[in-house]
Amino acid sequence: MTNGSSDRLVAVLTAWVRDASAGARLPSTRALVAEHGVGPGTVQRALSVLAARGLVESRPGVGTFVRAQRAPQAVDYGWQVAALGAPRTDLRALPATMRTGAPDAIALHSGYPDPSLLPERLVRSAFVRAARQEAALQRPDATGLPELRSWFAAELAATVPDDVAPPTLKDVLVVPGSQSGLVAVFRSLVPAGGVLLVESPTYWGALLAAKQAGVRAVPVAHGPDGPDVDALARAFAETGARAFYGQPTFANPTGTQWSPAVGQAVLDVVRQHGAFLVEDDWAHDFGIDADPRPLAARDDDGRVVYLRSLTKSVSPSVRVAAVVARGPVQERVRAVAGAEQLYVSGILQAATLDVVTQPGWAAHRRTLRQRLRDRRDLLLASLAEHAPLVEVASVPAGGLHVWVRLPDGTDVDAVARDCEAHGLLVAPGSGWFAAEPTGAFLRIGFAGPDPSAFGQAARILGERVASATP
Ligand SMILES: Cc1ncc(COP(=O)(O)O)c(C=O)c1O
Repeated sequence: MTNGSSDRLVAVLTAWVRDASAGARLPSTRALVAEHGVGPGTVQRALSVLAARGLVESRPGVGTFVRAQRAPQAVDYGWQVAALGAPRTDLRALPATMRTGAPDAIALHSGYPDPSLLPERLVRSAFVRAARQEAALQRPDATGLPELRSWFAAELAATVPDDVAPPTLKDVLVVPGSQSGLVAVFRSLVPAGGVLLVESPTYWGALLAAKQAGVRAVPVAHGPDGPDVDALARAFAETGARAFYGQPTFANPTGTQWSPAVGQAVLDVVRQHGAFLVEDDWAHDFGIDADPRPLAARDDDGRVVYLRSLTKSVSPSVRVAAVVARGPVQERVRAVAGAEQLYVSGILQAATLDVVTQPGWAAHRRTLRQRLRDRRDLLLASLAEHAPLVEVASVPAGGLHVWVRLPDGTDVDAVARDCEAHGLLVAPGSGWFAAEPTGAFLRIGFAGPDPSAFGQAARILGERVASATP
């Protein structure tokens, strides 16, 4: 049985049901098997899909019948306007990167790797094994499975120098993805209405998380090697902020890795101002020309609150991350996160632990590095050839995207819409700025589907930018 034959049968039967009258009996399984040349399992699967969509009902021992469909009615929700009142924050629908485009579009807008870049065999077999464990049935500890917490602690501890105490299991909280970890951390560190300093540009989701946590994101300028340290010091002095959010490793969207000197200088400034550094290590597994260098490894006084996500490297469907925080802040984050998540699905944690502790995990990461490099270089070469007006801000040493700049004055939202009308999805850069964008930027992914389409994508982008250039 394949999904393809089952999907085709679903389509045929859906059309049949739409033309039939309510109560009509569908042909028997045997008749459907004979007519469509598929197995009985495929027929059962297709009928279950139709039943789940409310199109048919099955009466055991009698047959499957068309359900009466109610005509859709217009409902007046007008009363909700007054009851909801003005929104508490200016949160809106999710940004362009989370959209599902037309199936035939070249999708370079998304932040998620194509399934072909995931450790598919490891993930599938991990789920089979996890299904047999107690974790599939029991509520896990609210802080996470101890073995998984130990794994997160040990991964970070492996990079800790001898003169710094390594993190341990008790410093780790498992969260259902870094995004919810960010909300909990921001809420824990910054008082309501207070200031959170952020790199500029920075991850749009962090800006949303700040809004969700009720804190004000104030941007700090960024250079080729990381944040502008003098600007960071000034921002701390001017705002009295107690936390700075940054991505030292292959930042989303720029791909920048902070140099060791900038990393140390940031830690020094943060320390001078009695503040925390929130380190978002979302791209730990996506090094191309460099390896990750978590700053949390140099943390000797609980200064760094570290988030490590496995969502994109294990599977976007296995949403597991960790917050590593030492001292009273761990207790604070646990309490805030607990109020929202209670605990993270045990079977997801067990499957995640299985994947990252298999010998195949290290091998997968090595191959991934080469495959990301091939894709990145192909995209850069395609842009250089077909889109001369598109300037690559810097070659990313890791991550999943390139951050490009269009000629000043270009309306990037209009270019993105125009590209979409021509079959290409890219993400306009405005979503990555806490304040006004500092230029006309786009983020273009190289980890999405079908790298053989990069040439065509670059051609579309080159033409659309040329026609939009003021
Ligand atoms: C910088 C950064 N942090 C955090 C996240 C969210 O990670 P998760 O999927 O684990 O919630 C993303 C996802 O795109 C990201 O780019």
